[in-house]
Amino acid sequence: MTNVYESTHPLVKHKLTFLRDKKTNPKDFRELIREISILLAYEVTQDLGLEATTVETPMGQASGSILQEQIGLVPVLRAGLGMVDGVWSMMPSSEVWHIGLFRDERTLQPVEYYNKLPVSPTVQVCIVLDPMLATGGSAVATIDILKRWGAKRIKYMGIIAAPEGVKALQEAHPNVDIHIGVIDEKLNDIGFIVPGLGDAGDRQFGTG
Ligand code: PRP
Repeated sequence: MTNVYESTHPLVKHKLTFLRDKKTNPKDFRELIREISILLAYEVTQDLGLEATTVETPMGQASGSILQEQIGLVPVLRAGLGMVDGVWSMMPSSEVWHIGLFRDERTLQPVEYYNKLPVSPTVQVCIVLDPMLATGGSAVATIDILKRWGAKRIKYMGIIAAPEGVKALQEAHPNVDIHIGVIDEKLNDIGFIVPGLGDAGDRQFGTG
């Protein structure tokens, strides 16, 4: 699949195994989300543009590079919140813009409840953060919002996806790169990823 990148990194695979484990407690679960997010951030940012610069070392001048574009991290509430800290620690000058969506359990359609984006975009690259890509409805709706806002370049970063969600996101937004820790087997009849990890929001916030 073009523009879909499933991680092959051994550390991601290792940590995903503990993340899936139903015996993992919320504290360890949050830590694993943070760590996996850092590893995926490395993959998502591989093609960011650089600007040449110079820097004075104690020994003289060295050539260097700095990020060319302003990055916006867009966590989808609630579950995406746990991904911010790790990614932000890698790119501390990023802006963070929250979008609140929940999935109606009956219709599986996303419902928007929080959006405080300013009138016009303040960043050149948006990275959407949400651990779960199930039907794809929430991801498609978030990217619709960002495109209406005027975001030029958007990337999606998730931890576990169902093939159905990847397909829906790809069809709706073919120009968005999709970076995923792992693509699982399927969605079940109530819209949960199988084998997945259960509900990423509940497992982080202890509300399950
Ligand atoms: C989960 C998840 C995604 C969405 C994925 O959030 O974090 O945002 O569902 O499902 P979809 O691909 O079918 O749209 P949820 O609605 O459970 O809200 P929460 O993060 O507040 O728990």
